[in-house]
Amino acid sequence: MNSVTLNLKGASRSILIAEETGRLSEKEEPNHILRCIGCGREFDPEEVIYTCSSCGDLLTIEYLDISVEEIKESWQTRPISVWRYRELLPILDSTEPVSLGEGGTGLHKCRRLEDHLGLSDIYVKNEGENPTGSFKDRGMTVGVTRALELKMSYVACASTGNTAASLSAYAARSGIRSVILIPAGKVALGKLVQSVAHGAKVIQIRGNFDEALNLIREVCRRERIYLLNSLNPYRLEGQKTLAFELRDQLSPDPPENVIVPVGNAGNISAIWKGFCELKTLGMIEETPRMIGVQAEGAAPIAHAIEENSDVIKPVKNPETVATAIRIGSPVNWKKALRAVRDSGGMVETVSDEEILEAQKLLARYEGIFVEPASAASIAGLKKIVSNGLLDRDERTVCITTGHGLKDPQVILNNFPKPIIVDADIESVKHAIESVDSTIILPV
Ligand SMILES: Cc1ncc(COP(=O)(O)O)c(C=O)c1O
Ligand SMILES: [Zn+2]
Repeated sequence: MNSVTLNLKGASRSILIAEETGRLSEKEEPNHILRCIGCGREFDPEEVIYTCSSCGDLLTIEYLDISVEEIKESWQTRPISVWRYRELLPILDSTEPVSLGEGGTGLHKCRRLEDHLGLSDIYVKNEGENPTGSFKDRGMTVGVTRALELKMSYVACASTGNTAASLSAYAARSGIRSVILIPAGKVALGKLVQSVAHGAKVIQIRGNFDEALNLIREVCRRERIYLLNSLNPYRLEGQKTLAFELRDQLSPDPPENVIVPVGNAGNISAIWKGFCELKTLGMIEETPRMIGVQAEGAAPIAHAIEENSDVIKPVKNPETVATAIRIGSPVNWKKALRAVRDSGGMVETVSDEEILEAQKLLARYEGIFVEPASAASIAGLKKIVSNGLLDRDERTVCITTGHGLKDPQVILNNFPKPIIVDADIESVKHAIESVDSTIILPV
C-alpha cells in the first residue's frame, strides 16, 4: 500500500499581495500543506505546529502542483545531495538553504561481508559520511532552513547525541541560537563535544531521553523556540532524500530490502515516505521492504509488530550499549508501524553483544567504522539471514546511521587495547609475531 499524497497538477505557486506602499508584489506560495495522519485535518504551513491540534496525532507533509517531467529534468542537473530533490522539499524556491553539503553519502558494495554471510547483493549506505557524521544532517539542513523562513531566533531539541550535534552545527551556520537537552552521562563523548564546540546551550538532565523530549516539547510550546526533533515533519522531509539517493545510486534496480536502526522511529518513517513518493511519481516500480532493527533493551516497536498490536507499550527504562537508540517511547511509532506493515517488512531485535560483533565485522571486513546504533543494521541483517528470512540474491541496503568516531569509549571498552613494548627491535618484532586472537581472519 502507498501512503503518500502528491498533487500532480500544474498551477502557479505565486500570488499577488498588496504591499504597505499600495503597490502589488508577488509572494511565493508554499508548495505543501500539513496533514494529520490520525484524523486527516489539514493545516496551513504558515502555522508553527508539530502535532494535530484536534486529535494530537503526528503530522505529515503533502505536496501541491508537482510536475514529474520538471522534477526529472531538474534533478539531473544537480549533484547527488539533499538539495538535488528540492522540488520535493517543503522550502520556498526563493529561500537559500542552510547547508554544509549534506547527503550524497557513499553506497558501498560489501563483497567481503557478502561472502561471510553467504549473500550476493549487499550494500551499506554510510550516513556517517554526512558533515556532522550522521544522517541527522539531512533533516537539519531542511529543519533549520525552515526555522529561518519562520524567522525563529532559537532552535531546540532533546537528543541521544547526534540530533544535538547536527542541530548545533546547522544553527551555528545560520546564526540561530540552539538549546539542547540530553540525558546526563548517556551521550557518547564525540557527540557531546560537537555540540559544545558549535556553541549550543547544552543542558544535561537527570533523566532519560524520553523525559528530555517531553520537557523540551513543553519549553517549545511555551516559548518562541523552534523544536527540531523528528516529531517535526519538516525534518523528516530532509531525511526521506535517502530513499531518492538510493534510487539514483542503484538505478535501474532499486533495493528490495532497506534495513534501518530504529530509535525514535523518524528515519524509517521518512525513508518509507520517500519511496512511496517515488512510486506515486512513477519513478520506481516497486517499493522495498522496510526492515527496522531495535536493541533488545529498547524494542517497543519490535514487540508491537510481534504481538500484531496497533499500539506500542513504552519501555520504562530502556538500556543498550547503542546509546543513540536507547529510546523507550518512540514518538514516531505510528508512522513506523505503518511503514513496516505497508512495505511488507519486519522489525528485528538484536542484543548488545550482536551489535558490538557487527560493529567489529564491518570495521574489519569492509573498512567502514560506524557507531554501535548503526551496526544494529548489520546485526539485524545477520539475524534475518540466519532465520531464513532473506534470499541469497535479494538486493539489500543496510543504513549505517552514524560514524564510529562518535563513540570512542565503546571501542576502548570492548576491543583489544593497543600493546606497549620497549623501544627496541626485538620487542617490536616479537609484538608483530604475537597472534591477536580477537582479530577476525579474512574469509
Ligand atoms: C546513529 C543513530 N542511529 C539511529 C538512530 C535512530 O533514528 P530514529 O530516532 O529516527 O529512529 C539515531 C537517533 O538518534 C542515531 O543517532
Ligand atoms: Zn488529527
